[in-house]
Amino acid sequence: MNQFGGNWTKKKIEILVEYAKAYLTIMKNYPYWQLLYFDGFAGSGLIIKDRHTDIDVTIGSAMRIIEIEEPRAFNNYYFVEKNKNNALSLEKLIKENFPDKKIIIKVEDCNVKLKELSNFLQSTKGKKFRVLAYIDPCGMQLEWNSLEKLAKTNIDIWILVPTGLGVNRLLKKNGEISNAWLKRLSAFLGLSEKQIRDYFYKEETDYTLFGEEKHVKKEVDAISKSATLYRDRLNKIFKYVTQPFVLKSTQGNVMYHMFMASNNKTAQKIANDIIAKYNNQA
Ligand SMILES: C[S@@+](CC[C@H](N)C(=O)[O-])C[C@H]1O[C@@H](n2cnc3c(N)ncnc32)[C@H](O)[C@@H]1O
Repeated sequence: MNQFGGNWTKKKIEILVEYAKAYLTIMKNYPYWQLLYFDGFAGSGLIIKDRHTDIDVTIGSAMRIIEIEEPRAFNNYYFVEKNKNNALSLEKLIKENFPDKKIIIKVEDCNVKLKELSNFLQSTKGKKFRVLAYIDPCGMQLEWNSLEKLAKTNIDIWILVPTGLGVNRLLKKNGEISNAWLKRLSAFLGLSEKQIRDYFYKEETDYTLFGEEKHVKKEVDAISKSATLYRDRLNKIFKYVTQPFVLKSTQGNVMYHMFMASNNKTAQKIANDIIAKYNNQA
């Protein structure tokens, strides 16, 4: 089962569902498009707040999207979940609650399936599809190169970027980052080690009794810098990217920035309006 992260867990799902309904309202006018909902980090179907002391259960994004019938439903649903037990519980819940829906669940790494999705959407059959995608990882599993080809297709994609929870934690204050972490940052941002260091660190000089001492210092606002960087990077491959919805812990620490990227201007406008509403509630 997926564990409850904080109030943002509920808000990100509400944002997605509100957008999906607006998307489906528009798509009702285009009955010739096949509508696909793709979820790259599908989860187990339910999110449990605290297994030991609390029985608060949140219905996960997958179930919330499948249950939408009005203004119309999606034609196809494709769920990817790397954890087999999560995938099995999701499958069981869907079969019990929506026995008649056309649903595919794959136990796989999201990056593998995103690349297959890109190839499919660029094929003759795939060109008849319009896609709403949701990328809700628990860490930095999404690889930049999974998005590059996808950005040339008719997709509206919501991405939760772990700016505080992931990127900022890997960027050590003194710049001494392990090779494994550098590799992860590089795959996640699609940037080289040098580009990452140039962007997030500056060299400082201390004037001591024995002369000058140079050292590397991390930029103070690395979380917001990483959000700006990711948004700019998205905007290089997609025509339109929204402002972020900022997800904070109860202590006020920024955990994620949530963006929607698309090649459709109306999509950006609708998503920005929804994001502004939820940012103002925070
Ligand atoms: C934050 S949860 C998703 C919650 C879900 N959106 C919901 O509302 O119920 C992230 C999920 O991604 C899965 N996961 C982690 N790494 C993955 C990967 N590389 N590819 C696909 N799924 C992965 C985890 O097992 C976990 O269930």
